[in-house]
Amino acid sequence: MSAKLFEARGLVKRFQGLLAVSEVDFAIERGAIVGLIGPNGAGKSTLVNLVAGALRLDSGEILFDGARIDRLPAYARAHLGIARTYQIAKPFPDLSVRDNVAIGAMFGAEGGVRDRAKARAMADEWLDFVGLAAQADHQAARLGGPDRKRLEFAKALAMQPKLLLLDEVMAGLTPVEVEAAVGLIERTRARGVTVLVIEHVVPAIRRLSDMLLVLQQGRLIASGDPATVLNDPRVIEAYLGRRRA
Ligand SMILES: Nc1ncnc2c1ncn2[C@@H]1O[C@H](COP(=O)(O)OP(=O)(O)OP(=O)(O)O)[C@@H](O)[C@H]1O
Ligand SMILES: [Mg+2]
Repeated sequence: MSAKLFEARGLVKRFQGLLAVSEVDFAIERGAIVGLIGPNGAGKSTLVNLVAGALRLDSGEILFDGARIDRLPAYARAHLGIARTYQIAKPFPDLSVRDNVAIGAMFGAEGGVRDRAKARAMADEWLDFVGLAAQADHQAARLGGPDRKRLEFAKALAMQPKLLLLDEVMAGLTPVEVEAAVGLIERTRARGVTVLVIEHVVPAIRRLSDMLLVLQQGRLIASGDPATVLNDPRVIEAYLGRRRA
């Protein structure tokens, strides 16, 4: 088994005239936590959509567990073990928190869990893991922002992924909630899940990540160990540029 779980080669995605992702190459080792940062509009969510199969590449190759997956539909990638959260959480509002997570279990790796009672039992385990057990019977629509993030997280974990893509699960959280999210991501990795974390909260992502990737205007401008990447003048400029804007 190769150390590499995931590899992106020459990824390109255009929206009409806009080059949202431009010649992006990177690899993710099994068991790693990889951080992906970059200013607003850099192409981070587009990259997640390309990996998860919500968007098709214009060119490039995506390899997962050594095999090409870039022509597979999203559900087939989920069956192989890729799960993602959405930057804007979209739970089924009328369903209970438990049933939202059970749906994740039913569409997960290896075709998911077919049995509803089993899916609900799995949902309860993941709700406990993310700290939402007390809200399991609530309507999802009743959850506040931070709890919606936890629900997204639980739903993705219930898919039993090998690779979990987290799109800004810490956005809008208080420092205490950020700490809880950092702990949750570390405990997720401890269960053998490889994680790609997209985040604007730089101190948290610096602590969490084994490797950092930095996107700016669709291009990967830096990658490597977090301390080195965050001292890279191009990265500092990309962030200062954003602050001045
Ligand atoms: N479906 C789409 N159609 C057209 N343009 C899009 C689409 N999705 C994203 N874009 C554009 O592509 C660029 C990259 O967007 P993306 O959402 O990937 O950025 P991001 O790095 O996730 O930003 P943020 O930090 O604000 O979430 C932006 O200019 C955005 O407006
Ligand atoms: Mg985004």
